[in-house]
Amino acid sequence: MKVLVIGGGAREHALCRSLSLDPAVSALYCAPGNAGIADVATLRPVDALDGDAVATLATELVADLVVVGPEAPLVAGVADAVRAAGIPVFGPSAEAAQLEGSKAFAKDVMAAAGVPTARSYVCTTPEEVDAALDAFGAPYVVKDDGLAAGKGVVVTEDLAVARAHALACDRVVIEEYLDGPEVSLFAITDGVTVVPLQPAQDFKRALDGDRGPNTGGMGAYSPLPWADPKLVDEVMELVLQPTVDELRRRGTPFSGLLYAGLAITGRGTRVIEFNARFGDPETQVVLARLRTPLAGVLLNAANGTLDAQPPLVWRDDAAVTVVIASHNYPETPRTGDRIEGLLEVAAEDEPDAYVLHAGTRREGDTVVSAGGRVLSVTATGSDLAQAREKAYTAVARIRLDGSQHRTDIAAKAAGLG
Ligand code: AMP
Ligand code: GLY
Repeated sequence: MKVLVIGGGAREHALCRSLSLDPAVSALYCAPGNAGIADVATLRPVDALDGDAVATLATELVADLVVVGPEAPLVAGVADAVRAAGIPVFGPSAEAAQLEGSKAFAKDVMAAAGVPTARSYVCTTPEEVDAALDAFGAPYVVKDDGLAAGKGVVVTEDLAVARAHALACDRVVIEEYLDGPEVSLFAITDGVTVVPLQPAQDFKRALDGDRGPNTGGMGAYSPLPWADPKLVDEVMELVLQPTVDELRRRGTPFSGLLYAGLAITGRGTRVIEFNARFGDPETQVVLARLRTPLAGVLLNAANGTLDAQPPLVWRDDAAVTVVIASHNYPETPRTGDRIEGLLEVAAEDEPDAYVLHAGTRREGDTVVSAGGRVLSVTATGSDLAQAREKAYTAVARIRLDGSQHRTDIAAKAAGLG
């Protein structure tokens, strides 16, 4: 099977790594990719937002499967263009990707499907904004309706900050604050059958102790030893299957990866958000634990034959990933810094710990930073404490001027405070 992956972050590196280990994959391409993905896939330049360009590339490569990683191409209709060219694609249509592309659309689907989520108002005028902020009180949760790369959401005790963010958006969703730990649960679906993956937890804030600004994600781990063992079944029944059924009922079936961001509150599990793609950095730890070869599962979803998919098989191992971000991330990340220590990790820590590249590019003989999140150092171990130790040992070998990472990823879950 020839597979083309669209994107170029750590999630795509994790996908390409798993696909490269799948004996069914005879050729693996990634467009545009990054310096690390080049080790496991052949890179092709492409404008990932240009559906025709992606479809043309897939046709040229005689790809049997295209996997679209990031949300922006999905919302732009790249999966539709590939599908129209007659090539199986893992990723939802532009219409179904509105589940991530519009918070208001997601709320509407959840209401229709009876999926538990925060109560909310969609506001377009300052009067509506003030009424909604007043109705819920602090802490305020204010979400830009459109795609904002993880930066559209403000959670604050400060009414003036909440109001300013709301007024800066054209259309905004203001909602009830949900208390409790967050869980990311992914499911692979063909629009009918839903196959859940293993839950993971993401660390959204920039600094240790969940302080600092929201980011795309600074680390993740799986499994969640503290979670109710029935969580996956419960979320399947209350959230994932009803959402997939509702989108099919509307004539916009969702095929691809349905990501439920959940809050485990005192009053039960609630959806914080849906995404229409694999989460980053959760994918790095979830795929590290998946034993079933990946390509066949994604192809079954793309072809609408997920009902024929044998049950997924998971390792007993735990996995931890720690993101190394550039100087000044998430505000105005500095790029072009030289990354050292990659070969030392390869020599000393692999295969238990390895470096997945997020924002990197090659400059002659060296690899330099090319984005806010630069590397995602991933490790597996017999339990979270061991996986953590291996991940941080590898992190310590990496040298990147001005870089930052959290030191407390999975610490609490591993029983370390
Ligand atoms: P989102 O882009 O919707 O995932 O929001 C980003 C982050 O903001 C989430 O991961 C949560 O940490 C936080 N957040 C979003 N909605 C809520 C809510 N209703 N209550 C509490 N925190 C929230
Ligand atoms: N880890 C959060 C996201 O992928 O949106």
